[in-house]
Amino acid sequence: MPEKTTVSVIKCDIGSLAGHHTVPKPLLDIGEKCLKKAQKSGLINSYYVFNAGDDLEFLMVHKKGENNPDIHKLAWDTFLEAVEKAKSLKLYGAGQDILRTAFSGNVRGMGPGVAEMEIEERGSDPFVVFAADKTEPGAFNYPMFKIFADPSNTAGLVIDPGMAGGFKFEVLDVMENKKVVLKCPEEMYDLIALIGTPGRYVVSRVWRARDDLICAATSTTRLSLIAGKYVGKDDPVSIVRAQHGLPALGEILVPFMHTYFVEGWMRGSHWGPLMPVGLKDSKCTAFDGPPRIVALGFQVGHGKIASDDNGDPLISDLFDDPAFDLARREAVEYAVALRRMGEFEPARLSAETMEYTTLPKVLEKLKDKFVGAES
Ligand code: 13P
Ligand code: 13P
Ligand code: MG
Ligand code: MG
Repeated sequence: MPEKTTVSVIKCDIGSLAGHHTVPKPLLDIGEKCLKKAQKSGLINSYYVFNAGDDLEFLMVHKKGENNPDIHKLAWDTFLEAVEKAKSLKLYGAGQDILRTAFSGNVRGMGPGVAEMEIEERGSDPFVVFAADKTEPGAFNYPMFKIFADPSNTAGLVIDPGMAGGFKFEVLDVMENKKVVLKCPEEMYDLIALIGTPGRYVVSRVWRARDDLICAATSTTRLSLIAGKYVGKDDPVSIVRAQHGLPALGEILVPFMHTYFVEGWMRGSHWGPLMPVGLKDSKCTAFDGPPRIVALGFQVGHGKIASDDNGDPLISDLFDDPAFDLARREAVEYAVALRRMGEFEPARLSAETMEYTTLPKVLEKLKDKFVGAES
């Protein structure tokens, strides 16, 4: 029987240094301390603590399966400890994504974002984890489509018989809380018709069609809907499996050689170009951005992340690479072009899709000043 192992990425904005731009070291240290303890106790086998802008991210590999209460509680308790530290330092937005106080077995719906994937380990199992800040889960729609359905992106769709039969996409309608599975290539146009509206339809899972092998999972909780009001865009994470009858690592990364536009950026209310960056540049500065994405490459085997002789996980900071310099340059150029337009669409999101807005307050203020116009 192949070994079953779970990759969990759980993230939360617990507060940031100087606005919403980054997670300072004392909070990362709390993540490191708590997850190391959990590794020692045997709850998890491997972990990696990092940040995507102002979001604290826990990558954990374990044997407990998806939605495990102990794994979720570990993340939740660690976030709460980090919130206390953030409050003591009077960091900005301390506890931003903590929407509930009483934990009841699962962090879904409580504020943190979650992507999880239980796998049967293959002979060798390469993974990529993506984490983005100042955007939303639908930001992954475009690269997920390119990676798993576009033969001009993924050569393997054409020349690797292991991928014959294509891939199945689970798409979540975050407004109606319904989901649908569409298979590519047959239903490709229907898929695009939905996921071309990333604020509503979000690719949540992808499987290889011929054997239902799970190959991608994305965080799909939507903070604005959970809380009933804006509390920060749900900055997303995604787990993607690579190679041997799945897209190669390079096919997973090639969509990011160019920038593309995503919803989010300043106050969650603007279109912005997504910028792939190494961990050292994982901070959102200019107009609180541009929205950024980091990518980590690693191997899962024997229930853990392949590690060095000291037990430290072997993690490759994939966008820390000149191959993505052009995308970064494009992102800056497009960012500047959009910012020239100020608060005029399409730089600003349309009124219905704005997550965070004082526009209703403006309309409320002007309510009595409006008078009927002649027809
Ligand atoms: P696999 O078919 O072993 O995944 O190799 C493909 C590859 O790595 C091409 O870049
Ligand atoms: P976060 O959702 O990353 O906290 O950003 C909030 C914001 O308003 C940035 O301008
Ligand atoms: Mg924040
Ligand atoms: Mg954030």
